[in-house]
Amino acid sequence: VDSEPLKIMISGAPASGKGTQCEFITKKYGLVHIAAGDLLRTEVASGSENGKLAKKYMEKGQLVPDEIVVMMVKERLLMSNSQEQGWLLDGYPRSLSQARALEEHGIRPDLFILLDVSEEFLVERVVGRRLDPVTGKIYHLKYSPPESEEITARLNQRFDDTEEKVILRLQTHHQNVKDVLSIYEDITIKVDGNASKEDVFAQIDSALAGLVGQKKRTSTPL
Ligand code: AP5
Repeated sequence: VDSEPLKIMISGAPASGKGTQCEFITKKYGLVHIAAGDLLRTEVASGSENGKLAKKYMEKGQLVPDEIVVMMVKERLLMSNSQEQGWLLDGYPRSLSQARALEEHGIRPDLFILLDVSEEFLVERVVGRRLDPVTGKIYHLKYSPPESEEITARLNQRFDDTEEKVILRLQTHHQNVKDVLSIYEDITIKVDGNASKEDVFAQIDSALAGLVGQKKRTSTPL
């Protein structure tokens, strides 16, 4: 019996490991990964008016206005592949207004994952992060070094990945996280994100496996 696809949200401070865990989750569970930050960076790279405006906020570590973000994410969520395979929403919603906009459309996840990482680790994770423009894979010079010199040579750094900017991004996170959590309190799991990425995934995996089992038991045969 086919069960309903999973609908998952993942949140946490800047560089808490959201994108890294999303790589593990999509690989095992086949969900459509929708990352607000990635969508915005694509828009910035396109050079559009929205992209130019978005970049001004991203450079200050502030939230990009809802006029730009809300439609962008909603469109992805409602696409047929997200509806059929299930979705994994990364870095969204990040404010009360964004959460409410989803609720108004009846869009609610099965589980809200909060990655909890000590602040002392976040700066180091940010400044050591590198991205592979070819595969989209996330690396860290110390914790997840690239597999070959060829990859090392082509790695990029994000424009907002400096110590100065991560402090601003962290402030924005603290201003908004309680509001968002208040909407999803009953379906939130807090995951210890200080461990190795494999150990963090083991915690998430057991929660997701439990959910899949639950959905199978409750789905009725056609
Ligand atoms: P966004 O791109 O979402 O950035 P962020 O929230 O700051 O999160 P990051 O992508 O920096 O980190 P991550 O948690 O994915 O960590 P990662 O896995 O890469 O947003 C950027 C900007 O866009 C915002 O500032 C805002 O302006 C705008 N924006 C985004 N969403 C918005 C919204 N909803 N509304 C309005 N504006 C919005 O890991 C980090 C590093 O650590 C990597 O190098 C990784 O290899 C390493 N690492 C990961 N896990 C571990 C581990 N367990 N141990 C050791 N190292 C690890």
